[in-house]
Amino acid sequence: MKEKWFVPYKYRMVEKISIPLKEERVEILKKGGYNMFHIKAKDVYIDLLTDSGTGTMSNIQWSKIIMGDESYAGSRSFFEIKDIVEELTGIPFVIPVHQGRAAEKVLNTVMIKESQFVPGNTHFDTTKGHIESSGGRAIDLTIDESADSAIYHPFKGNIDLDKLKAFVEEHKRENIAYILLTITCNSGGGQPVSLENIEETHKIAKANGIPLFFDAARFAENAYFIKQRENKYKTWTIKEIVKKMFSLVEGFTMSSKKDAIVPMGGLIGIRSEQLFNDLATPTILNEGYLTYGGMSGMVMGALAQGLHEVTEFDYLHYRIGQVKMLGDVLKEAGIPIVEPIGGHAVFLDGRKFYPNIPEDEFPAQYLTAALYEAGGVRPVEVGANLVGRDPDTGENIRPKLDLCRLAIPRRTYSYEHMMYTAETIKEVFKNAHKIKHGLKIDIEGSGLRHFSTTFKLVNSKKKSLL
Ligand SMILES: Cc1ncc(COP(=O)(O)O)c(C=O)c1O
Repeated sequence: MKEKWFVPYKYRMVEKISIPLKEERVEILKKGGYNMFHIKAKDVYIDLLTDSGTGTMSNIQWSKIIMGDESYAGSRSFFEIKDIVEELTGIPFVIPVHQGRAAEKVLNTVMIKESQFVPGNTHFDTTKGHIESSGGRAIDLTIDESADSAIYHPFKGNIDLDKLKAFVEEHKRENIAYILLTITCNSGGGQPVSLENIEETHKIAKANGIPLFFDAARFAENAYFIKQRENKYKTWTIKEIVKKMFSLVEGFTMSSKKDAIVPMGGLIGIRSEQLFNDLATPTILNEGYLTYGGMSGMVMGALAQGLHEVTEFDYLHYRIGQVKMLGDVLKEAGIPIVEPIGGHAVFLDGRKFYPNIPEDEFPAQYLTAALYEAGGVRPVEVGANLVGRDPDTGENIRPKLDLCRLAIPRRTYSYEHMMYTAETIKEVFKNAHKIKHGLKIDIEGSGLRHFSTTFKLVNSKKKSLL
């Protein structure tokens, strides 16, 4: 194993970015209601809103765009995906769809009968939404350690096996549609699941005749953590670990905007021919014919190539190392982050960052805006605004953690960009303890409110958030 940390690519195409003046940033924030989704991309210097679809494709991926086969049926580009999926996972049937949530929709319409449960580690929000809209219920059985930002656990994405056993015993096979492991666990901060945990979950699933699935958006990052942190696998290649992981599941959904490093795309992988046949009609009705689903031939070619590249050790070593480097620099400066640092993002603990802002005044949302004002850096809130209100009481839910997420796009930003980001955060942190008031809701959006809700400063006389 090569231990040296190096950038395993060079840049031959660049995209111009610029930063509006400080006064302009103050105005942009006010006009956008202190909501990061309301800021135009042209006004953002370092965009850390998401790692989804924002990565940089390689020269070989771009060549696949030109080579894409746009045939309606039997496209060569589709077979490039099928071949690499089978090589990596051993799973024979693959359905292309337009993105991860489309895979969830197609799978759940077929897999879930009214009122069935889908236990797992913390489900991503669209996953939970699709389980619920198919009549099911998502049950979060992640280990307790995942809820404490200061506790170190090498696999904070693990499912609690005792809780899973008890749940299956109580609710019985017929009330459980399937078990879902999200690798890595996005909602838990990009935290990995160990191979031991996957194996034990597989045993429980098999003993009870329940299918086990992956939400595999960041499967390669999960495999890298297994190699680094699970002694038994430290001499295995990433591809060997991936093969072993997938040998334990019946199938998977995948948002290919993450680990396949394409701007758009998704997959469903299925072991059973019967289930594959059952998925055909909802796929064709919602997405497209089975050899293109929701994608063009060009994107399918780039996706297939992305799956080759993402499973290279050097790529992952640099990728996860870059995220860790940013987290370590912040930690050394005493900035409260979630530990251990996950695979695709660094999370700042909003309540600890702003100890004097009342919890009801959205400290993490305030922090996202302060980082934009200070340096044109755009993170996103994963906290009180995102979780919304209790449907029964109408009260704002107080989540266990109120976080500000800095998601790092793949192969996109340099060391200097990361250092600039760290300096911006340090600058905001210097005065953070002096800030006594945060934000109040101005106009609340319906449904997934974090996309649309606008805010006002509680202290309306204030010009700057810093
Ligand atoms: C773990 C996980 N599952 C599913 C999805 C949904 O994928 P998409 O955005 O491609 O619809 C995401 C997106 O962020 C995700 O992180």
